[in-house]
Amino acid sequence: MTTSIAFLSRLERFPSVPSTNDIVRAWLTEGTPEVCLAVADEQTAGRGRSGRSWVAPGGAALLLSLGFEPTYLEPDRLWRLGAIVALAMADAAEEAAGLPAGVLKLKWPNDIVAESVGAGDSVADGVLKVAGVLGESEGVGTAGARAVVGIGVNVDWPRDRFPAELAGVMTSLREVARGRPIDSNALLDEFLLRLEPRYLALRDGHFDVAGWHARQVTTGRAVQVELPDGSIELARAVGVDGASGALLVEDEYGAEREILVGEITHVRLASTAGAGGRKAASGAGAKARAGRGGPSPARAGADRGGGRGVTP
Ligand code: BTN
Repeated sequence: MTTSIAFLSRLERFPSVPSTNDIVRAWLTEGTPEVCLAVADEQTAGRGRSGRSWVAPGGAALLLSLGFEPTYLEPDRLWRLGAIVALAMADAAEEAAGLPAGVLKLKWPNDIVAESVGAGDSVADGVLKVAGVLGESEGVGTAGARAVVGIGVNVDWPRDRFPAELAGVMTSLREVARGRPIDSNALLDEFLLRLEPRYLALRDGHFDVAGWHARQVTTGRAVQVELPDGSIELARAVGVDGASGALLVEDEYGAEREILVGEITHVRLASTAGAGGRKAASGAGAKARAGRGGPSPARAGADRGGGRGVTP
């Protein structure tokens, strides 16, 4: 069924690979045109953001990577590839799991999360990760631009099989759907149906800024963000910037600025007030919004940090 998706140049399924991102990167290097797709039942060396590994038991997750040749995107809009993948997957996951629209959220930049009612402060403040996106790019800004966007979705993974060290921060579609079994193949089909129009729109210069805004779990909430230099920023998230891809935050004095690269490590669901914390982000990846003078160059290479480059 998925092979009939017209925008795909190549689709292959693998029982087990080290990383689907590596498969697709190799395809692009050898000349496979966009959009190529590798799907695996299992990865033996799956990568996450910030140099972390990405682990999922065979058959319990949807693990895939898409290869793009994004010469149609300005370097500072490359982050939108990761965003369309996350948005299409959130829509698809709600359909495949029988969830009401909007139940799944995005945690900037591109994690798909669900709020765990009643989890309280002890369990990641109730924001549990369902899926993560990893973007890697090469030759950005040249005629040979290549980008790989990988996404790993915890699909049919029962809670009693979560690794102990992740049980407080992750969940699966099956758990969000209160134990209903979820078919990864159906999810893949739903995803591709939704990705195609978003991809074609992006090629035409259009991005669903409103939909991206609406999915954000952090808007109006106190957040803790780890910046690339390791410093911790406490602030109130006030939104996201549909042009730069940045997380917009406000400090305790009401000054707004954007964080271009970082990792939200904590979201306070109960309160929207008084982020407190440091006065201003001085670390890499943050800048005063008032001082923004135009698009910043996107990073080439592996996206290890945040909302720039391809993804997360
Ligand atoms: C994250 O840290 O949240 C990003 C996780 C990305 C995992 C996916 S699984 C498919 C693709 N292949 C990889 O090695 N990583 C991505």
